[in-house]
Amino acid sequence: HREVSYSIHRDTQYCFLPDWYTLSTRRQLYERDFPLYKQPVEVGCFSLDSERKFYNDDRQLRYYVEPEKSPHFKLSDGYPERYMRRNEGVKEGIDHILRWILANRSKLEVSHAAATGSSPACDLGVDFITWRGHLTKLLTTPYETREGWMLAVTRLQGTLYMSEVETETARWDRETRSERHKQMMYWGYKFEQYTCAAEPGGRPDESGVVNTNEAFCTVVRTRLAAHRLLFSGEVDCRDRDPQAPPAPACYLELKTSAEICTPKQRSNFHRYKLLKWWAQSFLPGVPRIIAGFRDDDGVVVSVETYQTSKISQLIKNEYNCWKPTVCMNFCSDFLSFARSVVREDNPRVVYLFSWEPHREVSYSIHRDTQYCFLPDWYVSEITH
Ligand code: A3P
Ligand code: MG
Ligand code: MG
Repeated sequence: HREVSYSIHRDTQYCFLPDWYTLSTRRQLYERDFPLYKQPVEVGCFSLDSERKFYNDDRQLRYYVEPEKSPHFKLSDGYPERYMRRNEGVKEGIDHILRWILANRSKLEVSHAAATGSSPACDLGVDFITWRGHLTKLLTTPYETREGWMLAVTRLQGTLYMSEVETETARWDRETRSERHKQMMYWGYKFEQYTCAAEPGGRPDESGVVNTNEAFCTVVRTRLAAHRLLFSGEVDCRDRDPQAPPAPACYLELKTSAEICTPKQRSNFHRYKLLKWWAQSFLPGVPRIIAGFRDDDGVVVSVETYQTSKISQLIKNEYNCWKPTVCMNFCSDFLSFARSVVREDNPRVVYLFSWEPHREVSYSIHRDTQYCFLPDWYVSEITH
């Protein structure tokens, strides 16, 4: 004879999520039907210049120039004298995405309101805002045996913001990188320089400086099962043909990898590398991956194109190989887990999710600590 009502209780005996409320990463648990994953739609983009300054436009977008089949690109050329490396010690969190949201807020709110018929004020119409790279790590978690992760999550006006926290191990690895490893990191960017032009009709300029501060990022909206996602990811280049389909279908991912000479190397490439490549490009709907295969001296000896949608077929013959459905179901279940844990809507509260290989995902709660990542300029503007 009554209606359903509710009241809110903080830190009381009603709390029912125990410390041991964790999420398993065992693969078998995620071998279900492939979850709904809506075609990602590009809602905007932004650029970062050589000083990591933000621009609400595509000025850093580059155009793919197809190389010959066996090009002999020397990837060590220009190292280290024409290399400007981004300072990875500077933690930007998700600030660039937040800047993009503020610059495009009216557009976002209106497109959401049009789609749902709801009132536009203060509703971005998404459940999660994050970097594509963070989602890539979630997708590959059931198969990862080496590197753990930490994700900080904060709820603000019903939306969950996710930003990575560098693990102690990752920091140690970054600060003790060998000279060889540093040079090999350069190779990937140098390959981009050999295959991209700044203008649609232009030529690559291999005599220029490789500056890893510069970036072009797409912002896409999509849905994974019940979760409405808005994320941004760096895009290497696009098809130079102006008739190419609209973004993200015209985008290309560039990769380098050691040349494959033995069946064992091929198997490792399928099992480990293609998993990461697939996860990274599948999420934003980037349909093609251009791979430059290089020798031990960093000379590209062949170039191949992979269709992102065909990668899962390509690996099917590997014994006990990774499965896209496991990746997507795990990600979807992690997002559900996060939504059930992250209840308090407060920019000063961080729920820190941690995972180490061979463990379950666990979390801890932090109030007013160094883990807080939503800047005041964003919170005051968005809650205005
Ligand atoms: P490769 O992709 O050829 O390895 P992305 O491919 O995501 O566009 O990244 C461009 C390049 O950045 C990579 O080229 C690699 O050189 C470097 N890079 C990216 N992530 C890295 C990581 N976790 N460790 C080392 N190098 C990385
Ligand atoms: Mg890139
Ligand atoms: Mg790349």
